[in-house]
Amino acid sequence: MEERRRFISKEFKQLYGRLPSIWARAPGRVDLMGSHTDYNMGFVLTMTIDRDTWIAAFPREDNHIVIHSCNTPGGAFFSLEDIQRDKVAPWTNYVRGVAAVMQTSGFKLRGFDGLIHSTVPFGSGLSSSAAIEMAVAILFKTLSDLRLNPVDMALIGQRAENDFVGVSTGILDQYSSAMGRDGCGILLDCRHLTSEAVPINPALQVVICNTRSERNLVGTEYDERRAQCEEGLRLLQRFYPGITALRDVSPAMFMAQRQMLPELIARRCQFIIEENQRVLDLAQALPEDCPEPLHELFAASYSGARDLYEIGSPAMAAMMDAMLLAPGLVAARQAGAGFGGSMVALVKEGFLEVFIDHVTKTYQQETKIQAEIYAVQAAPGAMILE
Ligand code: GLA
Repeated sequence: MEERRRFISKEFKQLYGRLPSIWARAPGRVDLMGSHTDYNMGFVLTMTIDRDTWIAAFPREDNHIVIHSCNTPGGAFFSLEDIQRDKVAPWTNYVRGVAAVMQTSGFKLRGFDGLIHSTVPFGSGLSSSAAIEMAVAILFKTLSDLRLNPVDMALIGQRAENDFVGVSTGILDQYSSAMGRDGCGILLDCRHLTSEAVPINPALQVVICNTRSERNLVGTEYDERRAQCEEGLRLLQRFYPGITALRDVSPAMFMAQRQMLPELIARRCQFIIEENQRVLDLAQALPEDCPEPLHELFAASYSGARDLYEIGSPAMAAMMDAMLLAPGLVAARQAGAGFGGSMVALVKEGFLEVFIDHVTKTYQQETKIQAEIYAVQAAPGAMILE
C-alpha cells in the first residue's frame, strides 16, 4: 500500500508539480449469485474484491477538472460548467458523468487535479467503471462537503452510467462498490436498496477465473435481455396484476403460467425467477460448512445462464470444464454480465495453488488462451484514505 502511494505520488508530482492532498478509493466487485437480477428488482449476493481504484487529488481554486490515469494514456481537462462526452479518452466519461449527474442533482462541486490508479482489471466484468465512479463520487463529496450517503452515491453512479455513458445497467456494480463490506459478502435487495452482511465460510476462498475472451456483444445483448424481461413482465401482469417486476413472481407462480408465454420470453423469465430464489438460498448456505448446496446452486446458475438466459460463450464453457475438474473446487459459475469475461469459483482452503495450476493448464490446452486466475478477499466499500 505504501509502495503504491509512493508510486502514485511521484507520478502526480510530475504531472501537477506538487503532491496530492487527498486520496479516494473504491473497489471492484464479483457477484457470487444473481446474474441480471438487479434490473428485475431482485436480489444479488455480491462481494467487493481487494482490487480497487485510487484517485490522488488536489483541490483547485477554479471549477475545472484535470484527470489522468496511470493505467491508460490520455486524460481530460474540462470545466464543470460545460461537461461533454469524450470519444478520445472514453474512460474519462465515468468522471465526467458523475460530475454531470451530481450537478444536475443540485450539488455545487469544487474542481480538482486528479490521478487515477486502478488494480481492477478493465473489461473483465469486475466493475472497473463503477470503481472509478464511486471513487470520484466520494472525492467530490469530501472536497465539496456534500451531504451524500453511500446509497445516494451508488444511484448517482448508476445515472452517470445510464444517462451520460449510455449503458443501461442496473444498480449492482455501484451499490457493491459503495456499500460492500470488509471480509464478507452482502445480500443486496435491488428494489429497496438495502443489504445485509453474509459471512462466507472461512474454509472457502473466492477465486476469479478470467477467461480473457472478447466481451464485445455485451452492450446490445444486454439491452435485448432487459427488453425481454420487460416483455415477460408485461405478459405475466395479465395473470398477476399486482406485480411490478419479475422479482414479484415466485417460481410456482411462474410455472403455473409458463405455457402462456412465447418460448424465448419464458426461458428468459424462468432464469431470472429461479436465479432470484438461488440468491436467497445461497445467503443461507454460504456461511455453512457444507459444500453440496453451494455446488448445486452454482451449477444451476451456470446452466440456466447458458441455456435459458443465453449469456454463455465457448470460452466460458471451456473455463467451466476446467474449473469443475480442478482439485479443491467446491462451486463454479459465471460472473458479471456474462458473454465471456470473468467467472467465479469457491475453492477449498489449502488448494489454491493446485487449483490455479490445473485450471490454467487445462484452459490453455483447450482454448490457447492464457487465463488470469487469482483469489480475492472482500474489501471495504468506497472511502477516503487517511
Ligand atoms: C453488469 C451490469 C449490472 C448487472 C450485471 C449482471 O455488470 O452493470 O448492473 O446487470 O451486468 O448481473
